[in-house]
Amino acid sequence: MLYYGACYYPEHWTAEQAKKHIPLMKKAGFNVARMGEFAWCKFEPDQGRYRFDWLDPVIAELNDAGIKTVLCTPTNIPPQWVFAKHPDILGRDAQGHVRHPGARCHCCKNAPRFRMLADGIVRELARHYAGVEGVIGWQVDNEFGNHHTTRCYCEHCEKAFREWLQAKYETVEAVNAAWGTSFWGFGFRQWSEIPLPRAMPTGSNPGHWLDFARFSSDTQVEFLEMQYEVLKAVCPDHFVTHNYMGCFPEVDYHKLSQFVDFPSWDNYPDPWGDALWPSYAHEITRSFKGTFWVMEERSGPTGDAVAGLLGEQPEPGEIRRWAWQAVANGADGVVYFRWRACLTGAEQYWHGILDHDGVPRRRYAEVRTTGEEFSRVASELVGTQVAPKVALLRSFDNLWSLERQPGASGFRFDQHAFALYCAVKRGGLGCDMVDVDADLERYSVVLAPCLTLVDEDLAARLDAFVKGGGTLVLTPRAGVRTRTNAMTDATRPGLLAELAGITVEEVRPYHHGQMSELSFARGPLIARTCEVGTWVEVLAPTTAEVLAEYRDEAFAAKPAITVNARGNGAVYYLGVYLPDPLLHEFLAPLLPEFPVKDVPEGVEITQRKGPDKRLVFVLNNTRQRQTLTLPGTYRDLISGEKVGPKVKLSRNGVLILKV
Ligand code: GAL
Repeated sequence: MLYYGACYYPEHWTAEQAKKHIPLMKKAGFNVARMGEFAWCKFEPDQGRYRFDWLDPVIAELNDAGIKTVLCTPTNIPPQWVFAKHPDILGRDAQGHVRHPGARCHCCKNAPRFRMLADGIVRELARHYAGVEGVIGWQVDNEFGNHHTTRCYCEHCEKAFREWLQAKYETVEAVNAAWGTSFWGFGFRQWSEIPLPRAMPTGSNPGHWLDFARFSSDTQVEFLEMQYEVLKAVCPDHFVTHNYMGCFPEVDYHKLSQFVDFPSWDNYPDPWGDALWPSYAHEITRSFKGTFWVMEERSGPTGDAVAGLLGEQPEPGEIRRWAWQAVANGADGVVYFRWRACLTGAEQYWHGILDHDGVPRRRYAEVRTTGEEFSRVASELVGTQVAPKVALLRSFDNLWSLERQPGASGFRFDQHAFALYCAVKRGGLGCDMVDVDADLERYSVVLAPCLTLVDEDLAARLDAFVKGGGTLVLTPRAGVRTRTNAMTDATRPGLLAELAGITVEEVRPYHHGQMSELSFARGPLIARTCEVGTWVEVLAPTTAEVLAEYRDEAFAAKPAITVNARGNGAVYYLGVYLPDPLLHEFLAPLLPEFPVKDVPEGVEITQRKGPDKRLVFVLNNTRQRQTLTLPGTYRDLISGEKVGPKVKLSRNGVLILKV
């Protein structure tokens, strides 16, 4: 089933204003609406007095129109009476400032009173809606950690953090050892001495900080688990999801995904940004469970709630292409944000499909056309999935370690990982983004960008993957830390040195825009040269072969990139951040074959495979027309026409070829 719809806020509209809404949704081909995530005050206007009569008729009317409901638990914003009675549930930032009410995401998920109240409203909603026709599933809360509120520094969190540490380390001595508290006299004698890493005169202890990042993420996971258990027990026929935030780095979505039937995420593509960035986030989200929804898909100009700016209009064809881009990368549901631009509140400028006046215009027409296409293609998608042979290791421990200490100015893990991802995409392939404990057997290539935190188990599993015939690509800073975020005393790349067949002689972070030149000494790129910056490593091969070396006077002819044959596989070590297009050319021969050659830049190709068919999606993400040569002639499921071998793609054009 392919779900298609919008986020709807009946609480924003009078009956008179709303009367055309549902008929218009039906005409647009919607089969789902998401509602209720900020409506706790409507559901429980006074403590223990519950009201559902404002929503029930809307759910019934939607259902009569063939539109199912995804209900949200509204625990993101409690009613104002909660704050008046229990001010201690408000979270605090690192400076100790209270997160005041009036907006959203204020509450501390470790405050016992907040947990109790949240549990109460979730149970009540679940009981009421378990048997209500039209309700098919739940979105728990909304975007955990949004506005950087994942990490809370209140007293409840301090207590909970100490308990979390106690469960993990058992003794205070073990905490001292893990964090290396001998530095700057940070040792503890008892649990009550351990603080949160609040704002302090200079940088915090990286071990302390990493455990706090883990604990803060676990708090979100626990909060989801608590609601998941209630919903599953009371509404066993409903699915449970949560709307993630793509590359948001504060919550470990691998762990969070234990408590959703499928993940969803909120996609607000920048019309002027890199068109593959949404695909990167689609693939991240898909990788947790093999499928996903976009629960909020951009449908109009955005609007900055803080700065008060009105965002750009999507150009004609863009909203449609974004919706298909999600499906092309594995989505089984696309829900626009929001149905209609609201007249009041901080997000007056954040548009929906309809403008403030509720008049259907060209964005509505485009959503309707897309709806017709979705219903035409839906049955073909059943049983198909995106299942790439390439994996990229994206573990949150690693992300957090690099967030605390990026090493070189301006370094961001996701930018580096995205560069590798784009190089893979350019070859027509996709990528699963997996945690370090994932089963690597079904992949032929594993990309491991900046894999700093490595333990013996991970090193052994990577070794087994390579010996079994896999290709592993390592990039700078691999293997330099232990799982407690301590530096290893083994020569870089630590536990990966034997596997990579090198040691790292010297690291050179460049903070002033310096560049080094390198040239390829062998392999398909022989004699090609390029400039590299940000951070370079001078390598010393033990068993590896040198592929590229530096030309700088200071370290001329020293190795920069190597390959080490091991068992039936190979390990590539890039001591540099190789820029495009060379990165793509370098990776291309290592990747699985793809039948479409010479894909023009900006054209995205993905595949959804089923037991007896393959659907190939071709998307023109550029502002120009494009021409492409396919290996044969195929039926385009959108137009129903035969296309190929030569195809012309219009601006924002989309083809779905049945192979
Ligand atoms: C999302 C959020 C929505 C809305 C939207 C537009 O982050 O889930 O509630 O705020 O952004 O700003």
